[in-house]
Amino acid sequence: MIPRKRLLISSSLTTVLPPHTIKQSSSHGRTAQQPKTEQGCVRVKAAYYTDRFTTEDTFIYGDMPDPKIGPMQVLIRVKATAINRKDLFRREGAGGGGSPPFPFVDGLEVAGLVEAVGPEVTDRRVGQRVVATLPYGGYAELAAVNRAGTVPLPDSLSFEEGASIPIVFLTSWYGLVKMARIEAGETVLVQSGGSGVGMAGIQIAKYFRTMVITTAGSDEKAARARELGADLAINYQKQDFLPEVMRVTDGKGVEVVLESVGGDVLTKSIQALAPLGRLVTVGNSSRSSVAPDLNLVRRKNAIYTGFSLGGQMYYGGVMAELAKIIDLCGQGKMRTVVDRVFPLREASEAHRYVAERRNFGKVVLRP
Ligand SMILES: NC(=O)c1ccc[n+]([C@@H]2O[C@H](COP(=O)([O-])OP(=O)(O)OC[C@H]3O[C@@H](n4cnc5c(N)ncnc54)[C@H](OP(=O)(O)O)[C@@H]3O)[C@@H](O)[C@H]2O)c1
Repeated sequence: MIPRKRLLISSSLTTVLPPHTIKQSSSHGRTAQQPKTEQGCVRVKAAYYTDRFTTEDTFIYGDMPDPKIGPMQVLIRVKATAINRKDLFRREGAGGGGSPPFPFVDGLEVAGLVEAVGPEVTDRRVGQRVVATLPYGGYAELAAVNRAGTVPLPDSLSFEEGASIPIVFLTSWYGLVKMARIEAGETVLVQSGGSGVGMAGIQIAKYFRTMVITTAGSDEKAARARELGADLAINYQKQDFLPEVMRVTDGKGVEVVLESVGGDVLTKSIQALAPLGRLVTVGNSSRSSVAPDLNLVRRKNAIYTGFSLGGQMYYGGVMAELAKIIDLCGQGKMRTVVDRVFPLREASEAHRYVAERRNFGKVVLRP
């Protein structure tokens, strides 16, 4: 039996970082201040922001202190971590959650091998394959994660696939299954089918045997959405989705919308609902400040609701739902799409790729 390593009590990766002291060169040729531990050991490669968020290509790839775990935490040797749009919002200064500690390592989800467990963790073992969610700290070779945020990863899924599942599949699962309570035979409109959330939404809606209409910003993305199972994929750059949705539903509209774009798309999505339909808003990719017209909701006799994973993550059985989703993906009943894998040292390029809306599904970083 492999002995469990017992480590000293500390908090998460970024909360233990002392001020920087050493000069170091980044992967982009920039010079950065490199953090140094009190003991002087610097061992973990990470992509991080030194002292502020910015939309410029300023991730530093360099050494960070070895993270220490608390009694109920697990240390994960990260094999893959995925980018979320929230990471981009965060660098624009709109991530929410107060002021994070700098130097700051982002990254909300990882897959990897358990390297060590805290003394009070009894159901995770060194060497185990796991997927985990964390508030930040994923863009690194090692991540300290709460035991409650980990789920075993079956051998049938790669680390890249594992890392790409938690945030977007949980969001779409809660939106469609828990909030909208989709039923077989219904028609579901998944906005932004090429986003991570949309890709997951298409898969989940098809798993529940609904008819899926989706939208995307290019012919290529629309084609990929159809390959993924969407019954109809509309390139909204060429065709207004609202009349098309009304046409294919014989003027009735759709029973359910999973909406993540906001603004005008949100308003038109309410208009696309059938009477007594349900719309779940999970995002605002357009960053629109336009609020939806609730009179429209009332006139439609519709249910307008939302879901935000953030505060919910470790409550109400969310991680048990993640285990179910991972099991379904592991059995091939649903599948995730890893669009592209970048080395962690190219985190800036990977963020640019997502910011330019070139991804269909998830973009993964490999340390
Ligand atoms: N509620 C939650 O807990 C939760 C969790 C995760 C994500 N979200 C939200 O869900 C949304 C999708 O997240 P994600 O990580 O899946 O995103 P993503 O993979 O980066 O995809 C976002 C896509 O949205 C589409 N889009 C449409 N209008 C846009 C605009 N004005 N600006 C930028 N993109 C636009 C683009 O696809 P096209 O070019 O094809 O239109 C873009 O590729 C985000 O708003 C995010 O904040 C919410």
